[in-house]
Amino acid sequence: MRQVSERYTRRRQEVALTAGDPGALAARLRFFLPRDLFKVWGPLDELAAVGALPTATTPKVLDLGAGLGTTTLGLSSFTAAAGSAQGLVVHAVDRDRQALSVMKRLLAPPAGPPGLSCAPVTLTTYTNLLEPAHWSESLPDGPYDIIVLGLCLNELLATIPDVPRRVAEGEALLRRLSESLSDDGVMIVIEPALREQARTLAAIRDRLVGGRAPPHVFAPCVGCPTCPMLARQRDWCHEDIPWELPAALAEIAGAAGLRRAGLTYSYLTLHARPRSLAELAVVPAHARRVVSAPLPSKGKLELELCGPEGGTRMMALNRDRRRDPDVLSDLGRGTVLALAPDDIDDSKRGARARLLPGRSPRVLRRP
Ligand SMILES: C[S@@+](CC[C@H](N)C(=O)[O-])C[C@H]1O[C@@H](n2cnc3c(N)ncnc32)[C@H](O)[C@@H]1O
Repeated sequence: MRQVSERYTRRRQEVALTAGDPGALAARLRFFLPRDLFKVWGPLDELAAVGALPTATTPKVLDLGAGLGTTTLGLSSFTAAAGSAQGLVVHAVDRDRQALSVMKRLLAPPAGPPGLSCAPVTLTTYTNLLEPAHWSESLPDGPYDIIVLGLCLNELLATIPDVPRRVAEGEALLRRLSESLSDDGVMIVIEPALREQARTLAAIRDRLVGGRAPPHVFAPCVGCPTCPMLARQRDWCHEDIPWELPAALAEIAGAAGLRRAGLTYSYLTLHARPRSLAELAVVPAHARRVVSAPLPSKGKLELELCGPEGGTRMMALNRDRRRDPDVLSDLGRGTVLALAPDDIDDSKRGARARLLPGRSPRVLRRP
């Protein structure tokens, strides 16, 4: 378990060794699959929150780098819980035949592992090696209502040695895939919450944002033209969803020295239509996303926010917080707020804005 985790984090150059390794397959099946399948729920829930999920009664799905079917299981369990569709028709592509055969068994009717309620899935698998510069040749025909790339974009780009080319090829792949989206289709890219992978995804996003043609950036961003996290090498945008692992998984995590709580990942949701998570706000220009944990310091509490004007730090003085309800401290990473210009004073502090006494940001969505 620990070895597989290290291959996915510190020893990424060894990631390819997990294919065909029976121990790694068992670790993926017993721990990583039941934990990671919930990662796609957040992006799906954001789409649902503004009525931007595809409307097909049985959406056609492309799952790239599908592996054991983790992301498809997340999608079908979300679909069952939300009642958003009757079932899914899934085309799954991976280079690992063995993983795809496990996926077939997991999704055979009734779909999903015991205890997880899933919408029915009609599955076709393709054992294909996806390669930069030859993306189109290995992709089954669309159009697709939903395209998912669960924790695999970085692996698809792993053979490209330098970051600028990796970003360019990632952009080319996502643009190519967006041509296969149905006219209300969505694409969800989930990546690890690691600095290099999350920054690459943000750099790809910056090359896609603002165009008139699809794909349109739906989330996590709420209108920022360039990702403020790319300004400093040490920053990266990621989610850290409050979540306690179920007891059986927590035990395995504890024994392997892995986190027992929180679901971490970075992601990008693209839409065939010009839709945005900022639609949560009555005035979309007022939407802000919390992109840090609360940052306490002497006499104040701060939060990094991202919005149409870029990155800002919202600050509340402790003396104001004692008088007012303690609004800032329970706003976790990923919360979407509406912040009107008269809620803040940004006249003195450049990129820092003080939340005015008596004002509180309106919470539009918590992760
Ligand atoms: C970390 S796993 C993710 C599996 C699953 N999507 C999930 O969400 O957990 C990455 C998957 O991408 C596949 N993969 C990596 N590079 C690939 C390539 N060039 N072509 C096809 N599949 C690839 C691997 O075999 C592996 O199953």
